Amino acid sequence: MHHLLSIDDISFSDVENIIDLSFSMLEILQRDIKKVPTLRGRTVFLMFFEPSTRTRVSFELAAKTLSADTINLSDKGSSIEKGESLVDTIKTIKSLGADFIVVRHKGEGFPHLIADIAKIPTINGGDGKNEHPTQALLDLLTMMLKKGLRKLSEIKGATISIVGDIMHSRVARSGIKLFSKVGLNVIVISSHTTLPKDIEKFYGVKIKNFFDDEVFSSDFIMALRLQKERHGNFIIPSDEEYNEFWGLNQRFLDEIKKRKKDSVIIMHPGPMNLGIEIEPAVAYSDSSAIFEQVRNGVAVRMAVFYYLFTKNAKRESL
Ligand code: NCD
Repeated sequence: MHHLLSIDDISFSDVENIIDLSFSMLEILQRDIKKVPTLRGRTVFLMFFEPSTRTRVSFELAAKTLSADTINLSDKGSSIEKGESLVDTIKTIKSLGADFIVVRHKGEGFPHLIADIAKIPTINGGDGKNEHPTQALLDLLTMMLKKGLRKLSEIKGATISIVGDIMHSRVARSGIKLFSKVGLNVIVISSHTTLPKDIEKFYGVKIKNFFDDEVFSSDFIMALRLQKERHGNFIIPSDEEYNEFWGLNQRFLDEIKKRKKDSVIIMHPGPMNLGIEIEPAVAYSDSSAIFEQVRNGVAVRMAVFYYLFTKNAKRESL
């Protein structure tokens, strides 16, 4: 059974496939009637046990554009509230006839558990601070579109700087894995207190504690939300000081303008903490691709559904 639980599940050629499909899906989304019959008669269960706006909605839109039926299920309002175990809930969903499961949960590895129990194609919509593979794919698609690239191999050699709370970010973890896989140079900039201690060893990224010339000259700069809900004791001095050192503010934008003729592309997965890791002057500037990231998320998730659907269909026919 093929799932998308981690960027580790997909090879370079799988990524190429998904990106190519995403371009076709973008074309469908520009049509007057945004509906194709690919998943007609199939049911997608969306299980979001953590807050979400853009990810849940875009998975639902993606499924509906492909003509699937969608069911939303969370702990609130379901039998989980009555004490039913999650394993029983999954078995129940299987009996009800799910064809896909999309799951977000604070437990790292929880989507893997679901995939093992349900044996239904499962997509990780974010598990704790572990991974968020479709976010990484939509970020990659956004970078290609912003640079006018159509072929994945052409992004090789570009530089992305990821700044902020790397330690608690599943967006960073999936992003670093995917961007390295396709040949981007990845720099991470983070306070010592929000940096996993052995990150260099595992991911081979370049690490910096503060902005410098190399960062200001990157092609892409991605800010991450300060994940306060995952913080324990001391993590940052204060919101103001955090903004001063690691925030994308006007001063930061001015430094870039001094060095680069063509503007840098600013990204953020959302939701933003305006005034902390990013200021409105940057988030809403011409350099920002933040709302394009959201838009591209629908196409990428359509592509992922299609890709899993065809891969699993091939497997069944073997
Ligand atoms: C992120 C998430 O939930 O992991 N948001 C998203 O999916 N677009 C990042 C975050 O919550 O900061």
